[in-house]
Amino acid sequence: MIFTVQQRSDYTFKANRSFGRHGWLRLTPAYGVKLVENLLSSVDTEAIILDPFSGTATTGLVAAERGNQAFAFDINPFLIWLGNAKYRNCPEDCLLNIREKVWQALQEYKSQVDRDNWTPQIFNIERWWSSYTLKILASLRTALVKQFGEPEENDEYSIVWIAFSRLIIETSSAAFNHISMSFNELVTHHKIEYIEKLFLDILALILGSSEKTIAGNAKALKVDTRNIVSLDNIKINKVITSPPYPNRISYIRELRPYMYWTKFINEAKEAGELDWLAVGGTWGIATSRLNSWTMVEEALPEKIFSTVKNIKMSDGKNSELLAIYVLKYFHDMHLHLSSIRSILENGAELHYIVGNSTFYGNMVDTAALLSDSISVLGYSNIRSEIVRKRNCNKALYEYCVSASWSEG
Ligand SMILES: C[S@@+](CC[C@H](N)C(=O)[O-])C[C@H]1O[C@@H](n2cnc3c(N)ncnc32)[C@H](O)[C@@H]1O
Repeated sequence: MIFTVQQRSDYTFKANRSFGRHGWLRLTPAYGVKLVENLLSSVDTEAIILDPFSGTATTGLVAAERGNQAFAFDINPFLIWLGNAKYRNCPEDCLLNIREKVWQALQEYKSQVDRDNWTPQIFNIERWWSSYTLKILASLRTALVKQFGEPEENDEYSIVWIAFSRLIIETSSAAFNHISMSFNELVTHHKIEYIEKLFLDILALILGSSEKTIAGNAKALKVDTRNIVSLDNIKINKVITSPPYPNRISYIRELRPYMYWTKFINEAKEAGELDWLAVGGTWGIATSRLNSWTMVEEALPEKIFSTVKNIKMSDGKNSELLAIYVLKYFHDMHLHLSSIRSILENGAELHYIVGNSTFYGNMVDTAALLSDSISVLGYSNIRSEIVRKRNCNKALYEYCVSASWSEG
């Protein structure tokens, strides 16, 4: 019997665009709402859910929407802010207030387009926006700041800044034809009427989906998930997550425009520093620092070392550096799988969506290597199944690695 694994776009970020709050901002490596719904389908609403690599908050939001309590960890402050904005219930008077203030801002910004408004220090900014589009965006931003203040954590006005973030990406020359972002050849000159209408359309969409009340509750927290200390005595029943894959895709790269415009980063070196803290980080200094990186945990499963050795021995241009990259990835995931045990309830179940990758022809079997770590760390009932095919040409798949945790 021939068994074909499908690409299943319903399990990716693509399907999320039509699911209310899930569709507010894109992050290409986000997984699909449906995948999380399936994993939660037989879980009762008393269960406490955790996503230790939260990204755009898919798990927390699905869990809260069905009435569960959920926690979400991420290292990126912008994603924490975004997650908490998605989880927040907005009372009717807040939505009304936002509409009035936006109307006020729209009365003012047109006359301020030629002023010296603040613009972010994005490298080669003219590659993203034409100088005229940039002036309009900067003027609109200034008028919005006057009404709502700068974007802040725990702010009921965050949804306005999410609408603005989406506006900047939709008026930019960023192209998403591939898993990593690139640029269109030409930068489009947008008319002011077009930009204003686009902003209002995006805002209407976001305010519309904010009207639906979320039954449960979720909280996004800034936690380095390699070093989970405690969760105020709360114990987790179910973990559903997708950590970064060992494929050198940088989240910072795609999030940069949003993070600059919302002032979560102000200069390039902050992006590199943040990526260095991320598992599998590979942006700027995150790569150059690999050469001086040392392990804090050496008792890793043997298969990790043999995979790394094969990459190192291959004759690729950067084989030595990328061997360290892969070693650090599995080392950091091992630290994570070790430290998360302290917040798991007896009998907790874990589901990790991960992808394999290749380095100079050497297959890195992420699911098998993480399963080995999971086994060494004392989890039980470990299994792995293919969820979908990731790419038409290469043998790249997504797997769901599952396990249970029992104390003692
Ligand atoms: C594949 S994305 C998660 C996507 C998510 N499932 C979604 O639907 O949007 C992985 C996330 O892990 C986060 N991350 C990487 N290293 C981390 C660390 N050390 N601690 C906490 N979060 C981390 C990244 O910032 C990124 O948002």
